[in-house]
Amino acid sequence: MRVIAIVNQKGGCGKTTTTVNLAGCLAADGARVLVVDLDPQAHSTIAFGIDPEEIDENLYEVLAEPGGTERMEQVVVEAAEKIGLAPSGIVLSALEQRLAAERADSRTERLAAALATLPDRFEYVLIDCPPNVGLLTFNALRAAGEVIVPLETSRFAIHGVQKLLETIGLLSERVGHELDVRILPTLYDGRTRFARQTLAEIRSLFQDLCFDTVIRNNVKLREAAQRGEPIVNFAPRANGAIDYSALSVEVAASGGRLFSGADTVPSQREVVVQFRDGRAADVRIAGDFNGWVPDKGVRSLIESDGEARVWTKILQLPPGIYQYRYVVDGEWREDPDNPEVVTNDVGGRSSVLTVT
Ligand SMILES: Nc1ncnc2c1ncn2[C@@H]1O[C@H](COP(=O)(O)OP(=O)(O)OP(=O)(O)O)[C@@H](O)[C@H]1O
Ligand SMILES: [Mg+2]
Repeated sequence: MRVIAIVNQKGGCGKTTTTVNLAGCLAADGARVLVVDLDPQAHSTIAFGIDPEEIDENLYEVLAEPGGTERMEQVVVEAAEKIGLAPSGIVLSALEQRLAAERADSRTERLAAALATLPDRFEYVLIDCPPNVGLLTFNALRAAGEVIVPLETSRFAIHGVQKLLETIGLLSERVGHELDVRILPTLYDGRTRFARQTLAEIRSLFQDLCFDTVIRNNVKLREAAQRGEPIVNFAPRANGAIDYSALSVEVAASGGRLFSGADTVPSQREVVVQFRDGRAADVRIAGDFNGWVPDKGVRSLIESDGEARVWTKILQLPPGIYQYRYVVDGEWREDPDNPEVVTNDVGGRSSVLTVT
């Protein structure tokens, strides 16, 4: 389970838009995603077409009492296909005061504990944070292994970001684990010189920390939020859908740290294999790691390199020795680029993959 907090104390920079639409694109790609709406404004909840006033229980019930964490599973509602939502409500704004008397570590580890009660249900947890660095954001950072900081390219203030990165750095020390922080340029309008310059500045400042994907300004993103749907469902051909799909591929490919709430899961490796073919239309991978079910639990990327198409398959595997085959337009084949093969139980040949 990868837990990713979407954080920036600055309002209106695209946290909620990123949470909802990244979730939509990851889910469209087959992943099961939990969205945790940690903002009392409940914008993520609303962006899934759910009225926070109509919900009986929200994250307040989970976070307000030590025993509340056990209720996480009950509080999660189905927001869209493959997307669960832990909804918010205005009452969350009272949490800070309510927990004021408690010990700092008990107050800030609630969300991590709640997520730990949901071990295998979701591959990704995306946490939408409020525009401040208070108790709720602290809870998110403690639960997360990764952080995405959306940065507006139209009104970029470097001072605020540096402060935020310092805070995250400080927190990493305090929470006892490092956070993998990445910057996402948002609200980009390439027609303005200011935005182009700002993007260049962000890239040179943050370099590898910056995603390659840039989220362009796209009015369909606003409309999708009003309609209560992620953009991939609402307007799959819009620039907003294209950009958030690109982001979801980048996020999936980056592997990330594997944190499962309070516990870490056994370490897995990201393994990438590629298949190149000029004629194939559909290429999947199956092996003993996914019960020989083609593409189960596998992320795919398809690119064209001129004459041929290249299928990139990204697997998350613990160390071990695995057998696999490609399924090319329905026909099972060994990997033409892998000399390591064994004869399998049914008399054919399987390729062998060793993960150290
Ligand atoms: N790429 C985009 N193109 C067009 N509009 C966008 C884009 N990203 C966000 N918006 C719009 O900008 C406004 C602010 O975005 P969003 O709510 O995602 O920011 P936020 O960081 O979550 O804000 P807050 O700090 O208040 O929670 C929203 O109306 C949203 O629909
Ligand atoms: Mg928001």
